[in-house]
Amino acid sequence: MGDAFSAVMGSIRFMETEARTAATKQWSENPAGINHAAAPEGTPEFYEQMTRSRYALQPWLPDLLRSWVPAGGRVLEIGCGAGTDHSVIAGIARETAAIDLASRGARLTQKRLELEGRPGIAQVADAEDMPFPDQSFDGVYSFGVLHHTDHPERVVEEMWRVMRPGATFMVALYHKHSMFAAQKAIEYIVRFRWRSQTWRDFLAELEYGAADLVQRPLVRLYSRQAARNLFARFHDVRVRTEHPALSGYLLSDRLRPFGWYVVVTGRR
Ligand SMILES: C[S@@+](CC[C@H](N)C(=O)[O-])C[C@H]1O[C@@H](n2cnc3c(N)ncnc32)[C@H](O)[C@@H]1O
Repeated sequence: MGDAFSAVMGSIRFMETEARTAATKQWSENPAGINHAAAPEGTPEFYEQMTRSRYALQPWLPDLLRSWVPAGGRVLEIGCGAGTDHSVIAGIARETAAIDLASRGARLTQKRLELEGRPGIAQVADAEDMPFPDQSFDGVYSFGVLHHTDHPERVVEEMWRVMRPGATFMVALYHKHSMFAAQKAIEYIVRFRWRSQTWRDFLAELEYGAADLVQRPLVRLYSRQAARNLFARFHDVRVRTEHPALSGYLLSDRLRPFGWYVVVTGRR
């Protein structure tokens, strides 16, 4: 009985760290967006190129972000990657903090803050166990991160803990009922990828560079309802979908309900 119990506990612990190990490797090698920059890493031109390509692909994002950032407040970004959105946030908020599992992303974000003369700190930390005191932020932002971690619900608990009463959040997750997910599912079937790969491994290939990895990052998809349920304990929870993209092209606004991102906002 004792042995069986430790075997199960051992495997649970392994499962718990699996996604985080894969995420660290994936985004240490390829912080999101750096493949769109040709200039030497860490230079102003490098950041400029990443910014240009990100907001050309997601033209709806800068305004949405600016309309959300609590001006004059203290804002945390979870999973900052190379710091493109963080730069927008840091230009509005009084003070910022950023965390990422991958040290290369945290370093790139820190460098960008320094180049732009902003007071924020970017550091390596796990969103499921954040190194911040209770009720220390007026806003929490996270784009494309919670669906890659083992326990998104723990991240949400941590968000609640570090947010002040009345603080707001904006979180973007991948959308299950999107044209992009449908395109991937069709590809998985008609290209017979199911013969050699699990859906999970196939889907992970949408992350740049992941196809070359043995242990691929975890990618979950959320329906609007599932995204809403994740934040059930918050107030004024609103869910919208954005980026009606198919093969990287922005389509008509009428297809927005089938966009690739579920954007959730709310208040503690
Ligand atoms: C797809 S990238 C998105 C980066 C950035 N938010 C963006 O939109 O460009 C996902 C990021 O989340 C980070 N990440 C994944 N799981 C995490 C966790 N448990 N704690 C902190 N960061 C995490 C990864 O290291 C990676 O930088």
